[in-house]
Amino acid sequence: MSRVAVIGAGYVGLTTGACLAHLGHAVVCADIDAERVDRLTKGEIPIMEDGLPELVTEGLESKRLQFVVGAANAAATAEFVFLCVPTPQGDDGSADLSFVEDVAREIAPVLRPGTVVVNKSTMPVGSTRFVQRLLGEAGAALDSIGVASNPEFLREGTSVRDFLHPNRVVIGCDNPEIAVRVSELYKSLDAPILVTEPASAEMIKYASNAFLATKISFINAVANLCEAVDADVREVAMGMGYDNRIGFEFLHPGPGYGGSCFPKDTAALLHTAQVAGYDFSLLQGVIEVNRAQHERMIDKVRRLAGGSLEGVPIAVWGLTFKANTDDLRDSPAVFVVRRLLEEGATVRCYDPSGDERAARVVSGSELVADPYEAVAGARVLALLTEWDEFRWLDFARVREAMASPALLDARNLLDPSTLRRLHFVYEGIGRS
Ligand code: UDX
Repeated sequence: MSRVAVIGAGYVGLTTGACLAHLGHAVVCADIDAERVDRLTKGEIPIMEDGLPELVTEGLESKRLQFVVGAANAAATAEFVFLCVPTPQGDDGSADLSFVEDVAREIAPVLRPGTVVVNKSTMPVGSTRFVQRLLGEAGAALDSIGVASNPEFLREGTSVRDFLHPNRVVIGCDNPEIAVRVSELYKSLDAPILVTEPASAEMIKYASNAFLATKISFINAVANLCEAVDADVREVAMGMGYDNRIGFEFLHPGPGYGGSCFPKDTAALLHTAQVAGYDFSLLQGVIEVNRAQHERMIDKVRRLAGGSLEGVPIAVWGLTFKANTDDLRDSPAVFVVRRLLEEGATVRCYDPSGDERAARVVSGSELVADPYEAVAGARVLALLTEWDEFRWLDFARVREAMASPALLDARNLLDPSTLRRLHFVYEGIGRS
């Protein structure tokens, strides 16, 4: 059992804290938001994450998980301090490390000899050394403090499962003893542990996300080509996926990737390449295909609406960046709604997450709590997120409610032949 402080109680920090407590460690999780800390102490979870409420309750009951306000309060007694604060995208695409800097300055004076500070948030190559320098400048005794990179590979919606059953644990540290100490935190997990140079660990995180984004942009580009040559991208992806070297995952075409990681991390890696003087045109292409894919959804809706969106009532199902999350950050669906509004459409949205923040994010549109209400009087329905519940709706009822039954299925979730039998004009992605 180790004493662990987790700084930042967001998606990454809360999952890390609750899971490390579940593995038997004594965890103090800190946030600057007193109201959030108060709610968490009562077992109220501010985010939608499968299995997390149960783990937080378990941690609170066993007293292995506590929540406090302020990083220094958590760090003062810890053997390990996990930095899980946001690293948002700066104006030039680079990662903004100001939250990391604030925390490093706050905790430096209270760290005890032997403490290891662990960078968990996604931070650019060089950040392990950067944090080490900051800690030193802010008064930490560097000869007795360790710093390591230990990137997370958590998907929203399945982050608890991803944490407890990882494909690998990566620890970037140039001091073998410290690397072993960090690895011991994970010793009850059945996963390979890879110890690398700090810069390699940092690059592993960016390269993994950029590669996954590349797979998505690649299949989206192939889908667009399939439309032009009467091929079906679902059959193509299936045929490709059977090749073990390619695999089936991340080959689902759609409106382009979004969320809090891929857009930010691809931009940050591109920025790193620019600073390093490397022309990473492949990654630039991935980002451009993604932007164009968002825009292509508007072209499709406009075509279904008969050529113009001015004054056209449109229904939208799904606003979050993917299904089974309430996260609206960098959501392609939100981009589409905003662009539809710009072109003069009137938009009524429904999202299964029921998140009230959606109303603010897509202001100018109407947010309703029922999928059938959303389609009433609409000339086009755009299904933008792959929530399972959309499969099981009564499409005869949907058709009756719409002014004209035209449907963009931006996730290839539905069966086109069933819908065409119901007299829908159906448009998917990469399906002729
Ligand atoms: C991702 C990484 O998977 C995770 O390892 C990392 O730590 C954080 O970023 P997440 O952002 O939760 O996780 O979402 P993910 O499930 O990877 O999907 C990202 C985006 O790609 C979503 O917009 C999703 O809809 C899209 N996507 C994914 C596709 O369009 N097609 C696919 O085949 C897969």
